[in-house]
Amino acid sequence: MKPILLSGIKPTARVHIGNYFGAMKRFVEMQSEFQNFNFIADYHALNQMLATPQEIKQLTLELTAAYLAVGLDPKKTILFRQSDVPEVTELNWIFNSLITPSYLQSAHAYKDAVAKKKDVNMGLFCYPVLMAADILMYDSNVVPVGKDQQQHVEIACDLAKKFNHVYKKEVFKLPKAVIWEGESLPGFDGEKMSKSKGNVIELFEAEESIKKKVMSIKTDSKGVQDKKDPEADLIFAYHKLFSAQMIDELRSRYENGGIGYKESKDILFANMMAYLKPMRDKYFKLIKDEKYLNKVLADGGKRARKVAEAKMTAVRKVIGVR
Ligand code: AMP
Ligand code: TRP
Repeated sequence: MKPILLSGIKPTARVHIGNYFGAMKRFVEMQSEFQNFNFIADYHALNQMLATPQEIKQLTLELTAAYLAVGLDPKKTILFRQSDVPEVTELNWIFNSLITPSYLQSAHAYKDAVAKKKDVNMGLFCYPVLMAADILMYDSNVVPVGKDQQQHVEIACDLAKKFNHVYKKEVFKLPKAVIWEGESLPGFDGEKMSKSKGNVIELFEAEESIKKKVMSIKTDSKGVQDKKDPEADLIFAYHKLFSAQMIDELRSRYENGGIGYKESKDILFANMMAYLKPMRDKYFKLIKDEKYLNKVLADGGKRARKVAEAKMTAVRKVIGVR
């Protein structure tokens, strides 16, 4: 049995190159060694009250195509919709009875929303409980998350312990949060690339729009002949990802002088498009084939649900409803 890796993504935004290097690429690399469960967290999208039905539906298809285009293999990875496993919301209900409002009041997603005076619904307040159900349902061993989600995995751990303790049976395994945030990719403005900051380069956005963003990467005002510290330049940070084949040459041109930021950006744009081409070609083909995407999700959903049904049979028995 391979260790289980689980990750959810909300269908509320398109994926960007930070998501790719920080998460998606690693899922692809790990899918042989781990049993990956990658799901589209569509019920989680409801806690953002602005998510419209059209958006949820469209972004679910786009994320599915994106995962496949970057190389997730549906024969290896279980790629599915959260809502195709209704046992998760059943488990959510059971967990609700093991947790107190005061405990959830300390969860930061809720605290942040209150601090920002956002509209908060019960979905947002209870969101860590639904996430715990996602995580614990499949006996996940590894849950790779950004720092902002670490607390939620800890809450899942607490709930697993609480359940096992109250019902005196080891029904749930304790998951481990793995923080992948080490090499956070900056956006074209120099801050961490993040959809909330509006500084993302999407994997599948129009070429013209990517070009504009690359050309707008912030730099200092050094001239072509000036010596430059590659480690202090944002363009160079991207070269490390997209220009690996010529990185030594670029480094030396930076250090010795002789490359201007305009040329560096032109090289970056060309290398970026070349790097992304295979996945972009695949994506634009897949996104037209809604039937295939829905089939992949349906197959994944069946596989995930089988695991969930077995878990819930045990849970129902232990709590006495069967
Ligand atoms: P988010 O889009 O914030 O929900 O992020 C989903 C996952 O993508 C995170 O858990 C990170 O692993 C990864 N990620 C997001 N933004 C970045 C970034 N700027 N650099 C590196 N990884 C990122
Ligand atoms: N809450 C996560 C996010 O906003 C998405 C998510 C839902 C998730 N359930 C999960 C992530 C379970 C990991 C495991 O990014």
